[in-house]
Amino acid sequence: MRFAGKTAIVTGGASGIGAAFVRRFVAEGGSVMIAELDVERAAALAAELGERVAYELVDVADAEAFAPLADKTARRFGGIDILFNNAGIGNFGLTPDMDIEQWRRCIAVNLDAVFYACRAVIPHLKARGGGAIVNTASASGMAADYGFTAYNAAKAGVINYTRCLAIDHARDNIRANSICPGPVDTPLLTSGVDEIEGLRAEWERIVPAGRFARPEEIAAVALFLASDDASGMTGATVPVDGGLTAHTGQPDLRDVLGAAGTA
Ligand SMILES: NC(=O)c1ccc[n+]([C@@H]2O[C@H](COP(=O)([O-])OP(=O)(O)OC[C@H]3O[C@@H](n4cnc5c(N)ncnc54)[C@H](O)[C@@H]3O)[C@@H](O)[C@H]2O)c1
Repeated sequence: MRFAGKTAIVTGGASGIGAAFVRRFVAEGGSVMIAELDVERAAALAAELGERVAYELVDVADAEAFAPLADKTARRFGGIDILFNNAGIGNFGLTPDMDIEQWRRCIAVNLDAVFYACRAVIPHLKARGGGAIVNTASASGMAADYGFTAYNAAKAGVINYTRCLAIDHARDNIRANSICPGPVDTPLLTSGVDEIEGLRAEWERIVPAGRFARPEEIAAVALFLASDDASGMTGATVPVDGGLTAHTGQPDLRDVLGAAGTA
């Protein structure tokens, strides 16, 4: 019951990593406000989990949306202790072909939104004497993927912005950390991947662990960072990627030399 009496705002909390976080946060005693575009899925999750889950239709890219959401959350649950900035969208396209609106939308949802939410929620965390912010960045913010221009830029921005939050608000007793998933079995990734024959197998081959993560495995680390167990951690960038970012990208010589390492 790490979260008994605590309240979290979770953006993108109706699906994938966000929904896994919400389920366990509530199971461990907390209350959640889900900020979502997909209100149907948010409503279904709230109906399933009970009155400690509320939801609002919010486009996280809307700069004006968070102040009313934060106020509403504080009124309903008595305050805000945790902000999980997790909503995100993918994006693919090389720079010369990138539509400007597509670039802007990707940066707005994945990066600007984190700033908007923190701007509105930090005063509420301060009012509680402190709190925790967890931002979902990505392995794709720690290094670059071919063709993921705007997404790579946005997620790298989330990582360094999280460090800014951490140092600026450490004396307010507010911790801020980012998590960096590798490929995770959620609609965001699999809806595209599973349309292309062989792509999942190729992607899994590249991950040292040999598989996509389950959303619960990413949420478990976000929950740890949100909890008092991580009271000594702020400003950290935590890969949860099955070893993806530990790898230089060079070929696996065992493939040519054999497992014993000799030809
Ligand atoms: N799935 C992966 O492989 C992977 C890898 C690295 C990072 N991530 C990051 O993890 C986070 C969660 O993604 P997921 O994989 O669980 O995906 P998901 O698609 O299952 O869930 C994302 C949720 O965010 C919501 N959302 C999207 N845009 C929104 C907006 N403008 N306003 C409000 N809600 C919005 C969606 O409705 C959805 O419910 C994202 O930030 C994503 O970039 C995912």
